This record gives sequence, structure tokens and C-alpha cells, in this order.
Amino acid sequence: MNSENLNNLVKEAKNAFRLALNVAELENAKAKFLGKSGALAPYFEKLASLEIGEKKELGKKLNKSKLEIEKLLVGRRQQLKETQIIKELHGEEIDPSLPGRGKGFGGWHPLTTSLKRIEEIFQSMSFRFVDGPEIETDWYNFTALNNPKDHPARSMQDTFYINNFDSDGLKLLLRTHTSPVQVRYASKNEPPIRIISYGKTYRVDSDATHSPMFHQIEGLWIGENVNFGHLKGLYKTFLKHFFETEDLELRFRPSFFPFTEPSAEIDIKFSSGKLQGTWLEVAGAGQVHPSVIRNFGFDPEEIIGFAFGTGLERLTMIRHGITDLRLFYENDLRFLRQF
Ligand code: PHE
Repeated sequence: MNSENLNNLVKEAKNAFRLALNVAELENAKAKFLGKSGALAPYFEKLASLEIGEKKELGKKLNKSKLEIEKLLVGRRQQLKETQIIKELHGEEIDPSLPGRGKGFGGWHPLTTSLKRIEEIFQSMSFRFVDGPEIETDWYNFTALNNPKDHPARSMQDTFYINNFDSDGLKLLLRTHTSPVQVRYASKNEPPIRIISYGKTYRVDSDATHSPMFHQIEGLWIGENVNFGHLKGLYKTFLKHFFETEDLELRFRPSFFPFTEPSAEIDIKFSSGKLQGTWLEVAGAGQVHPSVIRNFGFDPEEIIGFAFGTGLERLTMIRHGITDLRLFYENDLRFLRQF
């Protein structure tokens, strides 16, 4: 263990570092010399047992060698990093003979396109589009709409209930129609009111023409002198624009909804095209029930009007001749690309 040995150690380290071909190998080589049980360690141990004079001399040399080895290490580490970067850059070289990947552009979903058309048409007739919560209370979804607890009409709408309760201790639910939005709006605004409430609705139902989640578009027009004639004119104008044809007939068929009296189903018949000659049901409608007007906070002797509601899916299916509603939600590109 003398200074010559130390010089040799520096040379050995230099060699070992050069042989290391990546950073990990270099760290191993470093441990062999500078580590706790590396080649320099015994020299440092020895220092403790030396006389003060010898201690100084060996100490100096030892430190010098250690610094040299550290310098060699830093230099080699830098070198290896640079080679690594060059290698990586090389690996990413562009191969112009490979086919391009292309960019996939998205498009509007047919339901979104329909909604946008409907929005444009009703907005041009001064209707305002309003949105509301999908989780509703019993009051807004049923009771305010003249559908009291235990009323048999409630079973018309198989409801998804949630295990949370409102301030009256009643279960919250996923709204079964968008009419609750109309109650919310009408209780905060003054007539005349011309709104369309739209959005997702939920019912326990699933087959080719029903889905547990679907979209509704519901209108409310109330004021001092609004009557069924207005409804008929409005809805016919809407349908002509939506289906882009003058060739259609409208029929009001008596029906029942708890929130309207009288109530009607609206059917249409095209006089040309694929669906020519068949009556198709497109909406439910009616004059808003006096109790509902009262729940809005108005006097039914003064304020009167009508409501209508339809499924966005239904209108879109008729417009495009789609026969299975589930296609809307399967995200099959072969279907979606047709629009
Ligand atoms: N909310 C009704 C439903 O979901 C539709 C409707 C709206 C019927 C307004 C009449 C008037 O079935």
C-alpha cells in the first residue's frame, strides 16, 4: 500500500470507466473504486493507525488520487450521456418509405346535429333553450306536474330512484322527462314564457325503440291568450323545417297526460318519400293543466298555454330512416360515418 499502488489504481479506474458502455455499468465501476468497500477504502482505514507525519503524506496522496478518479468518472459519465442522446436521435430517424398515419377527424353525432337544427328552428320562433339537473326531486319531476304520489299515472314512467333523499324525505330520482326544467323556469320567471327544455332523460326501458337514457325536447308556451291553434301552427312550422318538406300532414289524437288537459298525441304523415302514407307518432302535447299553472305560481284564470314534448331520437330516426335506436349509442363508426 504505497503511492505507486495508488497511481496504478488511478490507471485501473480509468480503464474500467472506459470499458463501461452505459451509465449503469459506469456506476458499478465507480463502486469498485470509490465505494464503501472499494479499492480506496483500505487506504483510508490505514490512515487512522499512522503517525502524524506519515498520515499527512499519505492523506495528501490519497486525496489527490481520489479527486483524479472522481474527475475521470465525471468525464466518462458525460461522454456516455452524449452518446446515448445521439443514439436516441438516430433511432428516431424518419423513414420516408413508411405509409403515413393520417389524422382522424371527428364529426357531429347525428343526435347533436338534430339538436342543433331543432335549436335553430325554435330560436327563430323566439323560444329560449333552458337546461336543468338530471337528478331531480319528486316535486319537480312528478308532484308539481299534477302527478301526485300514488297517482296511477306515475307507473307510466318507470323511474330510476336514487338512494338519497330530498328535504321532504323523498327519494331523489333520475328525471323521467325534461318537464321539471319547465317547472323550475316558470317558477322563477314571468309570463309570457316561451322555452324549450331539452336534455337527457331516464326510464327503466330497453329495446329497439327504447333506451334507458334518451333525449327529450319539450316546449312550453304560456301567456294571456295562447291557444291550441298556436300550438298547431307552431308545431307544423317546426316539422316542415325539421324534415325539410312541405309534404306533410298533422293529426292531433286525444290522449292523456296528468300535466295537460286536454291532451293529444301529434302524428305526422308524409305525402312523399319512403314513409309516405303512414301516420307516425312524433310528440305528446296539451294545454297546461290549471293545477300546474298554479304550481308555477300563476293564476290559471289569467295564464294559459300549452306544452309539447318529443324524443330527439324519435325525430332523428324518422328523418334518417333509422330503425334501431341502439345504433345511436354503440359508437360504431360504420354507422356514424353515414351522417
Ligand atoms: N313530458 C311528456 C313525456 O315525457 C311529454 C309531454 C310534454 C306531453 C308536454 C305533453 C306535454 O311523456
